[in-house]
Amino acid sequence: MRVLVINGSPRKKGNVATMLHAVSDNMGDADVHWINVNDLSIRPCMGCMKCRETGICVLPEDDGHCMAKEIKDCDALIIGTPVYWGNMSGQMKLMFDRIVPAMMGESKLGIPIALHKGKKAVIVSTCTTIWPFNWIARQTSNANHAMKEILKYSGFKVIGKLVLPGTKNKSGIPQRIIKKARRLALKLYK
Ligand SMILES: Cc1cc2nc3c(=O)[nH]c(=O)nc-3n(C[C@H](O)[C@H](O)[C@H](O)COP(=O)(O)O)c2cc1C
Repeated sequence: MRVLVINGSPRKKGNVATMLHAVSDNMGDADVHWINVNDLSIRPCMGCMKCRETGICVLPEDDGHCMAKEIKDCDALIIGTPVYWGNMSGQMKLMFDRIVPAMMGESKLGIPIALHKGKKAVIVSTCTTIWPFNWIARQTSNANHAMKEILKYSGFKVIGKLVLPGTKNKSGIPQRIIKKARRLALKLYK
């Protein structure tokens, strides 16, 4: 089983990375591939829509093309983002904008065709806003919704999420989140 982990935070040892590890380190003998989006060299999507006809991005070969292949090859996905301006990080969004044809196709009538049906996903998010305001002010919920939207149209089934609000004065990840991460790893593996 090939598991793709995508860290949407530029911090390689930050909150998102720690939570992603809490899931991916418990995946038994799965083949885990870790991507830090901040390390990728990706030009932004130009919106030409050519990829919708050809399935390939017209831009010169860069890490956007590599990520399209990574997604096609994975059996399960673990993705996480810090909340930036009430949404996923820019790095993460830029990457997903570039790999649309690797995520979904389109019928002649323009109806989306999910390309990853049957694959499972876990989503992770963190923010400095404290609970319950992360929820009331739709901080983590907006970021989670944005990630879910991409995964839904691509056919991935989100089997669970890990959310850590109030990171400003916190160090480390609470035990309840570590325990939930282990449960989600088991669910992903089944
Ligand atoms: C550019 C930027 C924008 C941010 N916007 C928000 C925000 O809208 N709401 C919030 O609660 N926290 C916001 N934060 C704080 C991060 O979400 C928070 O520090 C998060 O825990 C960082 O995760 P990391 O340690 O994995 O990088 C922002 C941080 C940065 C750098």
